Amino acid sequence: MDRVPMSTTQSSDLLWEAFQSELSQISSSDQIAEIRDRYLSRQRGLITLELKKLGQLAPEQRPVVGQMLNQLKTRVEARLEERQQQLNQQDRARKLEGEGIDVTLPGYSFGFGKMHPLRRVRQEMEEIFVSMGFTVASGPEIEDDFHNFEALNMPPGHPARDSQDTLYITENLVLRTHTSPVQIRTMMNQKPPVRIIVPGKVFRRDAVDATHSPMFHQLEGLVVDEGITLADLKGTLEVFFKAFFSQNTTVRLRPSFFPFVEPGAEMDVSCIFCSGKGCSTCKQSGWIEILGAGMVHPRVLETVGYDYEKYTGFAWGMGIDRIAQLKYDINDMRLLFENDLRFLGQF
Ligand code: DAH
Repeated sequence: MDRVPMSTTQSSDLLWEAFQSELSQISSSDQIAEIRDRYLSRQRGLITLELKKLGQLAPEQRPVVGQMLNQLKTRVEARLEERQQQLNQQDRARKLEGEGIDVTLPGYSFGFGKMHPLRRVRQEMEEIFVSMGFTVASGPEIEDDFHNFEALNMPPGHPARDSQDTLYITENLVLRTHTSPVQIRTMMNQKPPVRIIVPGKVFRRDAVDATHSPMFHQLEGLVVDEGITLADLKGTLEVFFKAFFSQNTTVRLRPSFFPFVEPGAEMDVSCIFCSGKGCSTCKQSGWIEILGAGMVHPRVLETVGYDYEKYTGFAWGMGIDRIAQLKYDINDMRLLFENDLRFLGQF
């Protein structure tokens, strides 16, 4: 079919107007792509189609019309590009606005970690003893029979072994039942004078309840020098408890027995809840049993190679968990080991 082409100027002007009106109505980059497609796509673009019709024109018309259509094409491209830039700018502005920080909003709260009450108490105890001239010592949690028992004057068959509810690894290896073996290790490694504390884990074959745990913590103490007496033991620990609990705290010793000390004693502190008046915690006695202690047995000094004619010493062992329970009024030991954050968050 032989179509009569529209007047060149007319067709190009109409396209331009239509294009401009379409462009004025759009508001997104997607729509720009659509318009570009409609006017300029290689197959069906409205301008492309006009260019394809050039062949149907009289030869002398072709360059004129061709130039006009090419100019139109260039203008359309330029306008599309310009509009695209505008839209990009608007998009960026809108995005920045959305990202703006509202400084009046409340901040996020972070869950800060806290020190476990046992570690806190242990650290506080260490600080007091270190300020008094003690050094912090440690030893293995897996001990041999010699250090855990024999050198502490508990030879095989000694009745005191039974009371320790020992967890055996082999016939000769145990999970240490107390921190006292570190006394032996320290003395075998150094000459007097000795002033050490030994905080650490100990293990016993106990079922878990409010007052028992198969793993708990002790803090051992040992002082050996010339002329050390029971008065030094009492004075040292009284100074400690006054610093740890309160200046009103007093202590008393009661005779007791431990194979590795002679004489042996138990120490009580005046009840920290009622100041000695009598309450349910101290069972109306005014006193709370707090540790075992005594003068280092000459046989122990002999075993480690110390001259027991020249040197004397005192030692004690106390439960860190129990002292933490007293300090924070925690009535169930299990709370210390269950790692319930609601509980731990209070310290
Ligand atoms: N080792 C003892 C225990 O675990 C506690 C103890 C008592 C330690 C008397 C000592 C001491 O150093 O002199 O029950």
